[in-house]
Amino acid sequence: MHCTRKITEDLLWIGGSDRRLARFENLFPIPRGVSYNSYLLLDEKTVLIDTADESISRQFFENLEYGLDGRALDYLIIQHMEPDHCALICDVIRRWPDVKLVCSAKAAGMLGQFFTPDMAERAITAAEGDKLLTGRHTLHFFMAPMVHWPEVMVTYDELSKTLFSADAFGTFGALSGNIFDDEINFDAAWLADTRRYYTNIVGKFGAQVQALLKKADLLDIEIICPLHGPIWRENIALLLEKYQQWSTYEPEEKAVMIACCSMYGNTENAVEVLAAMLADRGVRNIAMYDVSGTDVSELIAESFRCSHIVLASPTYNGGLHPKMESYLADMKAVTVRNRTVALLDNGTWAPVAAKHMAARMEELKNMTVLEQPISIKSVLGDKQLDALSALADEIASQLS
Ligand SMILES: Cc1cc2nc3c(=O)[nH]c(=O)nc-3n(C[C@H](O)[C@H](O)[C@H](O)COP(=O)(O)O)c2cc1C
Ligand SMILES: [Fe+2]
Ligand SMILES: [Fe+2]
Repeated sequence: MHCTRKITEDLLWIGGSDRRLARFENLFPIPRGVSYNSYLLLDEKTVLIDTADESISRQFFENLEYGLDGRALDYLIIQHMEPDHCALICDVIRRWPDVKLVCSAKAAGMLGQFFTPDMAERAITAAEGDKLLTGRHTLHFFMAPMVHWPEVMVTYDELSKTLFSADAFGTFGALSGNIFDDEINFDAAWLADTRRYYTNIVGKFGAQVQALLKKADLLDIEIICPLHGPIWRENIALLLEKYQQWSTYEPEEKAVMIACCSMYGNTENAVEVLAAMLADRGVRNIAMYDVSGTDVSELIAESFRCSHIVLASPTYNGGLHPKMESYLADMKAVTVRNRTVALLDNGTWAPVAAKHMAARMEELKNMTVLEQPISIKSVLGDKQLDALSALADEIASQLS
């Protein structure tokens, strides 16, 4: 059965959600599922804005057929060629052979790669600022290269003041009937997923997101329709503020996260002691993670949120514990920067983890590593308590 929602008088949400997929891109755990949004504009011309993932194809086509109500499909705007949105293009063309494809020149090239070369020939290419008149509506196209693929463009509908933003402003999390942000409590769970989606998928491309934000700034936007997650009507200002912080790599909060790994529990004990000292000094909401059991996408999201990061790792074969290694490699991949970092290591015969973590921090931009890493030989001893206490003083004073 079709399952659609009206956004405006002549704009329909015709997407669907997948609650079975364990990992988005076979990488990011999505315990709250994910939605694939697609939009149908029913003007004098009928316009489909992006298709969807194969996993929801049955729902998608039931929705599309229902929305069209026997009319032909005139245009398919392809904003992004990643398969979670372009998988059903061929099937759309099979059902409506006269449909015209509208996409960027780069996307047209990709059409020929994913599908057949003659598919690329079907495409009408849109350049920056080009318009499509569909009747009452005028759609404007703006390029958003590397947010987060090179061919991405976004679409602005002048009449309804709607920005179709492709993957920008998207989030993990299935939609459950309520497709608008003002129909759900946009609470900690949604914000955490929005952050985890942005930082891991788009995080590396801060400069390109800044370019898109500048274009968006010139538009009068009342509705943002992304390709994943809720449609934004109520929290647009908050969302833009978050995107501003994330894309400039500024911490969202004066807050400390402690990322620890520990084989036998001694490094963990040391950071527990540090955390208690911080709490005694008034630090609230300390976020401690065992990097062995926490998905690295969560660690990355928290690294974007917090101003201070404590890294604590045992020495492992003359290097770092592999789970810490993986987190630090991802930090570099998404270009975390502008953070204050404290280091703590452990080793039974030759502790060198702090040296390795310091070297990794050197590879990132503008990371302030606090002097004198704390080094433990197997078990935290009385003689390290003063150093730990001094570190707690320093972090607490910076956070206050
Ligand atoms: C596979 C493996 C390799 C290790 N390599 C080193 C090393 O190169 N240098 C060192 O000082 N300790 C090394 N250790 C010892 C641990 O770093 C040390 O026992 C540390 O205190 C463990 O901290 P934890 O109790 O938090 O797990 C190694 C331990 C394991 C299991
Ligand atoms: Fe994408
Ligand atoms: Fe996507």
